[in-house]
Amino acid sequence: PVVVLDFGAQYAQLIARRVREAALFSEVMPHTASTQEILNRQPAAIILSGGPSSVYDEGAPSLDPALLDAGVPVFGICYGFQAMVRALGGTVEHTGLREYGATQAQIDDTSSTLFNGQPGEQSVWMSHGDSASLAPEGIRVTATTPGAAVAAIEDDERQLYGVQWHPEVLHSTFGQRVLENFLLRGARLEPDWTPAAMADELIDQVRDQVGDGRALCALSGGVDSSVAAALVQRAIGDQLTCVFVDHGLLRDGEAEQVKKDFVAATGVDLVVIDATEQFLTALAGVSDPEQKRKIIGAQFIRCFEQAARDIVHDRGDDQHPVKFLVQGTLYPDVVESGGGTGAANIKSHHNVGGLPDDLQFALIEPLRLLFKDEVRQVGLELGVPEEIVHRQPFPGPGLGIRIVGEVTAERLEILRAADKIARAELTAAGLDRDIWQCPVVLLADVRSVGVQGDGRTYGHPIVLRPVSSEDAMTADWTRLPYDVLARISNRITNEVADVNRVVLDVTSKPPGTIEWE
Ligand code: XMP
Repeated sequence: PVVVLDFGAQYAQLIARRVREAALFSEVMPHTASTQEILNRQPAAIILSGGPSSVYDEGAPSLDPALLDAGVPVFGICYGFQAMVRALGGTVEHTGLREYGATQAQIDDTSSTLFNGQPGEQSVWMSHGDSASLAPEGIRVTATTPGAAVAAIEDDERQLYGVQWHPEVLHSTFGQRVLENFLLRGARLEPDWTPAAMADELIDQVRDQVGDGRALCALSGGVDSSVAAALVQRAIGDQLTCVFVDHGLLRDGEAEQVKKDFVAATGVDLVVIDATEQFLTALAGVSDPEQKRKIIGAQFIRCFEQAARDIVHDRGDDQHPVKFLVQGTLYPDVVESGGGTGAANIKSHHNVGGLPDDLQFALIEPLRLLFKDEVRQVGLELGVPEEIVHRQPFPGPGLGIRIVGEVTAERLEILRAADKIARAELTAAGLDRDIWQCPVVLLADVRSVGVQGDGRTYGHPIVLRPVSSEDAMTADWTRLPYDVLARISNRITNEVADVNRVVLDVTSKPPGTIEWE
């Protein structure tokens, strides 16, 4: 594999994903792994990630110089670049010149290994306080930026390379080219990693993990859990049972659609649990978003535990309890729930941070290290139909986190009606593939004055939140055509009782998140 050594970056998995985009197998290892452990993985190349530390911080992760002498091509990024410069005998200084965000890099040699075929000036994404001021002896400096005299280094003989910026983020215009130049020209690797190979690898891992045990899959009908279910089914066949919980927080027609699509596509046994009462009772009186998420997460698990007991009971086989729970957790869910190394908890995604402490199941999360578009590729590879694979994301906690305020049956009905109209109009306008998703949010504790048919109204606002995104880690608001917005607004205010205003959310992520809670 191409080993990405994680120095505590939010970006380590993103780097791994960019390597996979270059059709090479990649895996992330923590910086605490010993040189021997790393070399035991027989890396074809090593990438040193960025990280939050300064090389001068006490306890800052260090780089064993032996790793640079092992005959394995190495590429350092940001902190990894600085650690590399230091380990090779160059100088890294607190220059006082901080660079954050976009800056221009001057490329000194556009025929070099890293920069071959690229312009002499390119926009790059920076995030550093220290900078390399003196390159190690015998190493070429091939780029500079206003804040870094040594912004890229190359040594073809020893196959050592590095850049001060973050080539893995899209804001670095030629980032992927630089990374691919390292992999294909610097390290001379042959691309051979495909979605099919990825699916096979994941299937093998699941088989190893489960053995002859029984597993239950928490199916939501969304892309992630459907692909996870298909994958696990491929791995363990009828040792798997899929459970769909109707928690009463679904959109109009959703339960029916899931039953129809999923069963038709996979032939998997689907157990449907109607738990509306249970969820609404547990949510009664609760307005705090994190508390709602935790409650919903816990109720899901209680449903799965009950389903697991029923399965054992139905089979009359208490020798084989259900030990595993399959979830479609993706990498962005893990990072944002505070699961990445040193990453902050933004919100508790119900299938990650929202799990109760007394969980009885071991988790199987085959997609845990993948991004959405990779999951879609794996899904297509497994024969999951296009309608499911390209379905827009819908969060596990459903409409429960789209009602700002307490969740009640009446409010759910209002939101469901508004959401149905918005979805129908977006689909009719042919916009489904142009937007990532469009949460429709009910501000249940807010009222405003309106006038309808000569009378005063005092109703609730509905928020439309159309977003465009690549992986849900960042997003921008989608510029929907005004006439489509007008139709949605007209219909919602006319057709949905208690709603007298429709507003558009024009916030990117960051600073907003996609959902309101
Ligand atoms: P945010 O609101 O964090 O959303 O910007 C990012 C993406 O994740 C979805 N989302 C969830 N999905 N369980 C899920 O399965 C959750 O608890 C959850 N919270 C947010 C959201 O719809 C968006 O696609």
